[in-house]
Amino acid sequence: MSQQYYTLAEGCPFASSSTAVLLRNKTGGGLGLLQDTQLIETLAHFSRERIPERVVHAKAVGAYGEFEAVADCSDITSASFLNTAGKKTPLLLRVSTVGPEAGSADTSRDVHGWAMKLYTDEGNLDWVFNNTPVFFIRDPIKFPSMNRSHKRNPQTHLPDVNMFWDFHVGNPEGIHQLLHLFSDRGTPHSIRNINSYSGHTYKFTKEDSSFKYVKIHIKTQQGVKNLTREEATRIAGENPDYYIQDMFEAIERKDYPIWNVYVQIMDPSEAETYRWNIFDMTKVWPHKDFPLRQIGKLTLNRNPQNYFTDIEQAAFSPSTMVPGFAASADPVLQARLFAYPDAARYRLGVNYQQLPTNAAKVPIYCPFERDGKMRFDDNYGGDPNYVNSSLKPTKFYPEVKNVNPNSISLHTEHEKWAGEVSAYTSHITDDDFVQPAELWKVFGRQPGQQDRLVDNLASSIKGVKSSKLRGDVYALFGRVNRDLGAMVQKATEDAIKQSA
Ligand code: HEM
Repeated sequence: MSQQYYTLAEGCPFASSSTAVLLRNKTGGGLGLLQDTQLIETLAHFSRERIPERVVHAKAVGAYGEFEAVADCSDITSASFLNTAGKKTPLLLRVSTVGPEAGSADTSRDVHGWAMKLYTDEGNLDWVFNNTPVFFIRDPIKFPSMNRSHKRNPQTHLPDVNMFWDFHVGNPEGIHQLLHLFSDRGTPHSIRNINSYSGHTYKFTKEDSSFKYVKIHIKTQQGVKNLTREEATRIAGENPDYYIQDMFEAIERKDYPIWNVYVQIMDPSEAETYRWNIFDMTKVWPHKDFPLRQIGKLTLNRNPQNYFTDIEQAAFSPSTMVPGFAASADPVLQARLFAYPDAARYRLGVNYQQLPTNAAKVPIYCPFERDGKMRFDDNYGGDPNYVNSSLKPTKFYPEVKNVNPNSISLHTEHEKWAGEVSAYTSHITDDDFVQPAELWKVFGRQPGQQDRLVDNLASSIKGVKSSKLRGDVYALFGRVNRDLGAMVQKATEDAIKQSA
């Protein structure tokens, strides 16, 4: 590299990077020529430097690190990265806000996405989680409307609290996550101070084709710390990239953040009779029913070398799973299994899995997927472009690993309980308000938290123009707890009177 000199992308050197090729006149002007390849290539590349930002989760902090299994977990999963205490697996983490654009302020009140790629020795495993244990919806078809209502008004191009609250009044199953979002947890102190949760139920599977249902919890060793609304607003103006800077500097000074990773474990037979629908991600499994068991810890210890190639080009998907880990019949999860690879094909191109940040660290043999734009490996050379050819016999995982083929087929008798194909729309019942009411009580144990929640809610709802819609929002919170509804109403209407 000591010999490195400036070239164009094809390696051809130039004596200067600032010399244009012109048909010059005597007054100091000049007409450009097509043969000025240096100028044309530089400008043409510049216009194409941006790729589409993610339609959601555009603004993020990213870093590399490692996952360490704290125990042999082979009693609950055959996942190789969990089969030996102390086994380490490299990882990439990208933590984002959901609604705001790539240039927005880190401390905007929002749910925070937690996308983690574990480069395991049996392929990649992506955990695409949030920092809240529940989600706004349980019917996947509502996902685009939910996000649009959280984004900009199509006419004014301004964030619109009328649409936001209109969506939530019409879809009250999101009340549980609304309470999280408008509590202090909606404005974390830093990414080092948040927890994250699978939200969905997943499966831990074993070679004997048995499985357990699990929910995953990732808890910060730095402690959960949050900002108040006022602090978050001030920082948004002073340093919109506050979280990115905080993480980068912590890793540079070797103050590596650490999280413990736990699972709640449920036997399929328990799922069949449990009080809560385990495929409804607006619900948690209370810890008193299913305590946490630690499976690992993770440490972030390396900053990206280049934000674009390491973080922006990263693509995560809940469908990226290794043997020992599987999806459940949660309808939102089922939709996500399709949506993420589809988004990546659009955003990054059909061969996005080959980008260095996405590439698995194990040999890949997928000769069904050939060619396409920007294929940059050997494209499986002369191998047939199908599998199981007698010209080039293909080996499969069960024979190489000497395990039962059923161990990676996930259909068991219990699936009959999970359901038959049918149209599905969920309905709101009083049950949807039971866990939010518990959460309101939990907030009551932290001094000031209930008041700050009410104040944060009022600061948003006061922007709703229609008094009818405001009344519906108070009624929504009143269904959680009558005092909460009354407090939100009073705080909001007082704030409106004061600003009138
Ligand atoms: C029907 C439900 C959902 C759909 C259709 C959906 C779709 C998407 C799409 C299209 C992206 C952008 C991906 C890209 O451009 O690379 C995304 C990002 C993301 N989603 Fe979802 N999502 C859903 C629900 C959820 C839930 C329930 C969670 C958390 C439990 C979640 C967490 C994330 C995270 C963390 C990212 C950012 C990924 C990254 O860093 O690249 N999403 N989602």
